[in-house]
Amino acid sequence: MPFADRPVTREIDGMSTVPAISLDNGVDIPQLGLGVWQIDEPDVADAVAAAFDAGYRHIDTARIYGNERGVGRAIAASGLPRDEIFVTTKVWNNDQGYDRTLRAFDASAARLGLEQIDLYLIHWPAARQDRYVDTWRAFEKLYADGRVRAIGVSNFEVRQLQRLFDETSVRPVINQIELHPRRPQDELRGFHAENDIVTEAYSPLDQGALLYDETLQKVAAKHGRTPAQVVLRWHIQLGNVVIPKSKTPARIAENVDVFGFKLDNDDMAAIADLEHR
Ligand SMILES: NC(=O)c1ccc[n+]([C@@H]2O[C@H](COP(=O)([O-])OP(=O)(O)OC[C@H]3O[C@@H](n4cnc5c(N)ncnc54)[C@H](OP(=O)(O)O)[C@@H]3O)[C@@H](O)[C@H]2O)c1
Repeated sequence: MPFADRPVTREIDGMSTVPAISLDNGVDIPQLGLGVWQIDEPDVADAVAAAFDAGYRHIDTARIYGNERGVGRAIAASGLPRDEIFVTTKVWNNDQGYDRTLRAFDASAARLGLEQIDLYLIHWPAARQDRYVDTWRAFEKLYADGRVRAIGVSNFEVRQLQRLFDETSVRPVINQIELHPRRPQDELRGFHAENDIVTEAYSPLDQGALLYDETLQKVAAKHGRTPAQVVLRWHIQLGNVVIPKSKTPARIAENVDVFGFKLDNDDMAAIADLEHR
């Protein structure tokens, strides 16, 4: 099981049953959160409220999802202390560049109703427009000013991470990438592990497409769990931060209930083999 030893996993006292991983700057991120892409603004507050009820304390949104206001409403209505909730949002491609990014951050924070964001990500490198280095310098300012507790990237390849290392001062603590058994991203995960970057898996269920796979159904039956729980448990045991999306309250609860069982080496190998089928 490569890289499984890297992250420091522990419980956050009094917070939730989801363990935390320490980012390289010492900030704790709950290892599992709710992704809210494709949940429309009118529905997102209900989904986030269902997630809080089920024990989630980590929400992953983005400016381009068009639902930051609804996420903010759910946070305000929850009555949870601000420091018990971890919120990620992302700068969209056409807001990249130093000044635009600073303005986009203010607008996202205002929509979320938050003074400080826990994690701000560059959503895509958008390499052809070549503004991600300037964007990252704005991220460094937001971090230095305490507007954001941690800064990272999404959809970055090794050469783009390397360019940030070479041309800027603060390293990204996380890279959020598409990752699931059919796309395990071993090379990028290896690079992350060597550089103290946490791997965050988006589309962790392959957008639901792999849940009908026979192997997964067998492993799920063996543990008395669902295929979705088995896949999410696979991510957890690899040390990934994972952000499954659902707008269905029963699935939201199901997806966070993955800390009471363990996959053995045979299960992990069988799931890893899905890459080749
Ligand atoms: N950085 C990026 O570029 C990027 C790109 C894509 C996604 N993301 C983030 O990653 C999050 C998750 O990725 P994703 O939304 O692409 O896909 P996903 O989480 O892999 O899959 C979501 C799909 O699976 C279904 N589902 C969820 N739990 C299930 C369960 N227990 N049983 C059966 N079906 C289940 C959902 O249906 P229902 O909702 O109908 O229940 C939905 O159709 C996003 O919401 C977003 O926050 C980031």
